[in-house]
Amino acid sequence: MTPETIALIKSSYAGVTAKPRQLAARFYDELFAVAPNLRPLFPSDLTLLQGHFEAAIALVVRNLDEMSALRESLRDLGAQHVHWGARPEDYVTAREALLAAIGALSPSWDGTLERDWRSAVTAIIVPMLEGAAVHTALVAERLAADAPDPV
Ligand code: HEM
Repeated sequence: MTPETIALIKSSYAGVTAKPRQLAARFYDELFAVAPNLRPLFPSDLTLLQGHFEAAIALVVRNLDEMSALRESLRDLGAQHVHWGARPEDYVTAREALLAAIGALSPSWDGTLERDWRSAVTAIIVPMLEGAAVHTALVAERLAADAPDPV
């Protein structure tokens, strides 16, 4: 990601989060509108989660120039998400819902911003999915090690 792209994303993020939890609230609205089946996985009161979600996105936006520093934390977050029932395909749905939310709240939303934000959100979900995969592989390895006669 070029420094220009990072600057664009940072300034658009500052605009959409001027009001706390506005972005997260919109994100969950967009997500449950396209994927109502995911709603039961979440607590009925989303207030706390909205704060956590925005904090996570804010951390990523602050560190866009060194995403590798966040890779391990994002992998851990992805591993936790296995227990919450997130499937790989849900991440694409979540990415598009987040883009729709940012777009709806950004007065200057255009094709360039959309492309740049899609890259940024993809850079979040890829390590999360890797973390989920590693977690699943470790469970399989432990099971195999316990088996008296591994196949
Ligand atoms: C852009 C990708 C995503 C990010 C950045 C993200 C971020 C987060 C964060 C920061 C939390 C709170 C963790 C905590 O409180 O310790 C959380 C919780 C959760 N997320 Fe995600 N998430 C993403 C995608 C998804 C997807 C695709 C699902 C699909 C089902 C999902 C389902 C949940 C659920 C069910 C919880 C827990 C709610 C509870 O407290 O019971 N997330 N997420």
